[in-house]
Amino acid sequence: MKRSILIENDQGGYTVPTKGLYPYQWNWDSVFVALGFATFDQDRAWREIEMLFEGQWHDGMVPHILFRKDDPSYFPGPSVWGTSGGQIPSSGHSQPPVAATVIRDLVEADTSGKSENRAAALFPNLMAWHRWFLAYRDPEGEGLLAVIHPWESGRDNLPDWDDALRAVEVKDIGPYERKDTSHVDPAMRPHKEDYDRYLSIMAACRKVGWDPAEVARTCPFFVADPGVTFIFLRACRDLLVLAERLGKDTDADEIRGWITRLERGLADQQTLTALCGHFDRISDKVRYLMPSYDPDHESYEPLRRRRRHFLLDGSHMVDLGIADTCETSSLGSRRTQEMGAIQLNKVEKWFGELQVIKGIDLDIQEGEFVIFVGPS
Ligand code: DGY
Repeated sequence: MKRSILIENDQGGYTVPTKGLYPYQWNWDSVFVALGFATFDQDRAWREIEMLFEGQWHDGMVPHILFRKDDPSYFPGPSVWGTSGGQIPSSGHSQPPVAATVIRDLVEADTSGKSENRAAALFPNLMAWHRWFLAYRDPEGEGLLAVIHPWESGRDNLPDWDDALRAVEVKDIGPYERKDTSHVDPAMRPHKEDYDRYLSIMAACRKVGWDPAEVARTCPFFVADPGVTFIFLRACRDLLVLAERLGKDTDADEIRGWITRLERGLADQQTLTALCGHFDRISDKVRYLMPSYDPDHESYEPLRRRRRHFLLDGSHMVDLGIADTCETSSLGSRRTQEMGAIQLNKVEKWFGELQVIKGIDLDIQEGEFVIFVGPS
């Protein structure tokens, strides 16, 4: 565990993913970072998540970036997003909702009972965030969540977005200067055509004042994402365990309804059987399972679309990323080529059988980081 990286990137209660490239508080990075802090400082772990929820919008959304101070080394900053949804300047969309899962883990790992009080204080915020996802990312009630921006998926560079992104008209963006390519090799970052579209999506949402219903109705990018959906399903199951533990019976009933809706919207047995075929083929090719994208696929770009692996060794599932900036990054590389729909189904199959993420090990070897997930 590279405590020194967490401590160095600590901004006084929240942690930046990487100094320079990512100088603010990022949503799911923070929640994962809390697992790292929990291995040596429970209080600090809770603080990380509590500070994230300080930025929750009035409508329930928890933004993907909180701009707690102005840092000109990052683009697009607060003025480009133009939001006003919460107390802290922020981006305008969310990121995969892993907080309920990690909060459950923190509560169950703490026998003192203190964590339960902190979880109880955050419980209404978690409910509000989950309701927001269902209302505005699944407005038709199909049991499948959409993302309105590749960055909302947390799997920013996934080739799965390419077609939908190409369909976004580039407009209302004006000239702009990127900062990311001055921090890292441009070969590892998205192309300008992608950035033009990232900004065009933001411009369209700005036009409707980031009103979530209007965004869901008019956003030029509104793409079903099995990744976020499965993560959300997992989070709902963990939120249900918390609700039961905290005696929130009405909320627990509501969550059970969400779970039924999501399970209905997700993969059937025939799809899972086909996915197992892919799994077997891919497993012969890689050192760790499951790679985030099919190495045989023509869109596979290991540099720009970096890889994340899930390793199941019988007792542990390990999420393993290949990091470019891990010497300074809180979580290793954030820009991994992430799981595609196919792999996600498989991962969720395992994940459903496992209980919670047990810890995080930033044992940096060949640029890798590892998150351990324990069996149930
Ligand atoms: C980026 O790459 O700058 C995005 O904000 C990712 O979240």
